[in-house]
Amino acid sequence: MNIQAEIQVPGDKSLSHRAFLLGALAHGTTTVRGSLESKDIMNTIGALQILGADIVRKDHTWLICGGNLKEPASVIDAGNSGTTARILSGILSGIDGVSVISGDSSLSRRPMDRIIEPLTRMGAHFMARRGSYLPMAIQGGNLHPIDYAMPVASAQVKSCLLLAGLFAHGTTCVSEPVKSRDHTERMLKFFNARINIEGLRLSLKGPQKLDARDVNIPADPSTAAFPAVWAAATPGSELLIKNVCLNHTRIGYINVLKRMGASIIIKNTSTQNNEPVGDVLVKGTALKATTICSDEIPALIDEIPVLVIAAALARGRTVIRDAKELRVKETDRIKAMAQGFSALDSEIEELEDGFIIEGPLSPNSGRVKTFADHRIAMAFHILSLAADIEVKLDMPECVDISYPGFFESMEALK
Ligand code: S3P
Repeated sequence: MNIQAEIQVPGDKSLSHRAFLLGALAHGTTTVRGSLESKDIMNTIGALQILGADIVRKDHTWLICGGNLKEPASVIDAGNSGTTARILSGILSGIDGVSVISGDSSLSRRPMDRIIEPLTRMGAHFMARRGSYLPMAIQGGNLHPIDYAMPVASAQVKSCLLLAGLFAHGTTCVSEPVKSRDHTERMLKFFNARINIEGLRLSLKGPQKLDARDVNIPADPSTAAFPAVWAAATPGSELLIKNVCLNHTRIGYINVLKRMGASIIIKNTSTQNNEPVGDVLVKGTALKATTICSDEIPALIDEIPVLVIAAALARGRTVIRDAKELRVKETDRIKAMAQGFSALDSEIEELEDGFIIEGPLSPNSGRVKTFADHRIAMAFHILSLAADIEVKLDMPECVDISYPGFFESMEALK
């Protein structure tokens, strides 16, 4: 069955986190419209409220009265959200006093040394389980600037250090090996911060104050990727996805789907709070295999699970490499995807840093373990729709991390 539909997916998760974080730092009242209201975002909002930000929702608008964050009186629970834990740590390192962050069992297995190491160099003190894991205590205040070359491309680490740099006395420099999503630097500029960007090197002079702004959040391109892959892999489909964030550091998967043969047309483009936005029209076809590797990876890292589904439906050998970071996401996504296909009596080859997929596969119906990872759950649901099989997920409710209402929205496209 092909899709002939139009869809509006929820607000961008990365931008929603940042709008609340910068709104809580900024002086005055920031408004946020179109925010994602998923579990991860509620964790960021809850954390900022513990730090003293006044955040309320009135009708469809969030109001954030910020500018005076203080040492928290209770433990901050980041839940499942790596973005909350890592970016917020930059702010906590700048606040005088002691903060403690905890997370759920998935987040407690994800490495924090990537932020602990540079923030320690800036003068914060950490005590973390086994040196690198949550729960972790931070003694913040009195930061000094550093010049830091990040060993891995990570927007969470980059953002964490830029926000810590707002508190430090002097110029903090961060350089990344490959460009990761650049929402923080764009939004810092939107909040009137002075930040210099020279290729992969960023610098900002602290201490700096931000001014409150009105932020509109466009739809999340990572969320849009799920229905986009379903439409792209179904010949004859035409799906229009409205008002999507089209930041080039996020839409690597659109180039990949085009290489695989799908027609994708961008329409009605505009700029909203320093971010490019537009409608995405996806026309389906019989997909063909491709190779995804090297510098292309950071711009599609979160979309790899659903691109593996596209590859499984495509003709030929798809190779995905240089994506070792997948092993430290909400779960080990390389292992989870390979195990999911095995449970459906199909095989994809697991590499240390990616996959080899000989398509098209003919998966059977079956029961798939999600490892409580929203993107694994949504990817296998898209496979069930596109391959017309029944896939029972062990924990379907984990989609609430980024896309509450996902299953109903996909049903509505039929
Ligand atoms: C995110 C950055 C990425 C991404 C995550 C969201 C962000 O992680 O995978 O889902 O909002 O900054 P890394 O910082 O590890 O690249």
